[in-house]
Amino acid sequence: YLIGIDVGTSATKTVLFDKKGNIIASASREYPLYQPHNGWAEQKPEDWRDAVIATVEDVVKKAGAGKDEVKGIGISGQMHGLVMLDEVGNVIRPSIIWCDQRTGEEVEEMLEIMPRERWIEITANPPLTGWTAAKILWVRNHEPENYERCRHILLPKDYIRYILTGVFATEVSDASGMQLLDVPNRCWSDEVLEKLNIDKALLGKVYESCEVTGTILPDIAEKTGLSTETKVVGGAGDNAAAAVGTGVVKDGTAFTTIGTSGVVFAHSSQVTIDPKGRVHTCCAAVPGTWHVMGVTQAAGLSLKWFKDNFCQDYVEEAERQDVDVYDLINRDIANIPAGSDKLIYLPYLMGERTPHLDPDCRGVFFGLSAIHTKAHMLRAVMEGVSYSLSDCNDILKEMGIDVDSMMACGGGGKSPVWRQMLADLYDCSVNTVRQTEGPALGVAILAGVGCGIYESVEKACDELISEAQSTGADSSVVGKYKAYHELYKELYGNLKNSYK
Ligand code: XUL
Repeated sequence: YLIGIDVGTSATKTVLFDKKGNIIASASREYPLYQPHNGWAEQKPEDWRDAVIATVEDVVKKAGAGKDEVKGIGISGQMHGLVMLDEVGNVIRPSIIWCDQRTGEEVEEMLEIMPRERWIEITANPPLTGWTAAKILWVRNHEPENYERCRHILLPKDYIRYILTGVFATEVSDASGMQLLDVPNRCWSDEVLEKLNIDKALLGKVYESCEVTGTILPDIAEKTGLSTETKVVGGAGDNAAAAVGTGVVKDGTAFTTIGTSGVVFAHSSQVTIDPKGRVHTCCAAVPGTWHVMGVTQAAGLSLKWFKDNFCQDYVEEAERQDVDVYDLINRDIANIPAGSDKLIYLPYLMGERTPHLDPDCRGVFFGLSAIHTKAHMLRAVMEGVSYSLSDCNDILKEMGIDVDSMMACGGGGKSPVWRQMLADLYDCSVNTVRQTEGPALGVAILAGVGCGIYESVEKACDELISEAQSTGADSSVVGKYKAYHELYKELYGNLKNSYK
């Protein structure tokens, strides 16, 4: 068996697979997101730790896996989050996570220290508010006592590696999102560390994603039913992991994921950079390759926000009928016309990355009329997220990245209505794979490569991943959606100065 762990923003999901990629057991556990101020977002690393230990124990038990049967584990997780540990490995402060937007001044500071072009040359990306380096500077500037005590800087999934194996390490795909990595050369950048005055000793060793980084500690083995021989590989940031889990490991392949964030991701055998910095370039989990991705900050987060605040009726109906609340939402929005009768939602609850790189913008409902119902608003939310993802897709096209296969994954990718919106907006078919657990499967495959079960990532994907469903564009709404997408873009243009 192989285990894939995905430390997400809403929950940790752990899946145990057999060598053929079949799901044998899965478990998930949710935890809170703290938003102490407008635009701030924090989580407790200890919550991730407890969720991982509980779900690993759960899947091992459910599968009836004997002590030596789990050969390898891969960890994936939300990117960019800052975890700081003290001398004895205790967490110093809550993690400032990927969608936190407090670091506008630190990004300015980074641009004063080094010109934007040089940042792009080395890290493949301009300084970004959500990335780890700016968060490190924020702690140094605002909480010097915490910075003083810090001995280890880790990403969320690498904190889990430390808990499971006692090893301080990371791997190239997630480390790319720290803005401290020399992305073309796949190693820490001495120049960047020196300019920012960050001690390299604070950072772990950088591995390739399928390399073995350690084995399970005795006390964790005892708690979870694993063996101390079980290997833990580098793993990957959740998007690079989802790429492997959807077979996006060759040029010409891409996927869209709708989780808390939304991402349009294309594989690239070269370092391909958008000079305007609107999409990110990072190392991929396939050794010696890279990827380009555009990010919608609040994708599933927008729908969850709307559901949590305004849909108690749906929640109660779902409880009564013992069904998923999102299935009821999908049922009702299917009856609303494409374009939601000219109701447009801008999904900028946590600022926006692609294409605006604007930490200050916020969400909007535009065009509300007395004809609109709650179902219109729900559909508008899903369409607004789709317009934003379409912005990401358009930039990939503008960069000359030819995509001939677009997969869908993440919670939102399971919704047929949402996939139809994407197909209509991208004007291409959007496909799913047999296994719906993209990131978990991706890192389980990486673990299989690290343990010598599969020969290479590409070969394992060829063998294990097959297409399940294909949703084609509906030519009767493609034109209508194009016009609404234009209006959506115009709205941000008109509003951007009002956000300041
Ligand atoms: C990618 C990003 C998000 C997180 C969320 O740059 O910030 O997709 O990885 O899981």
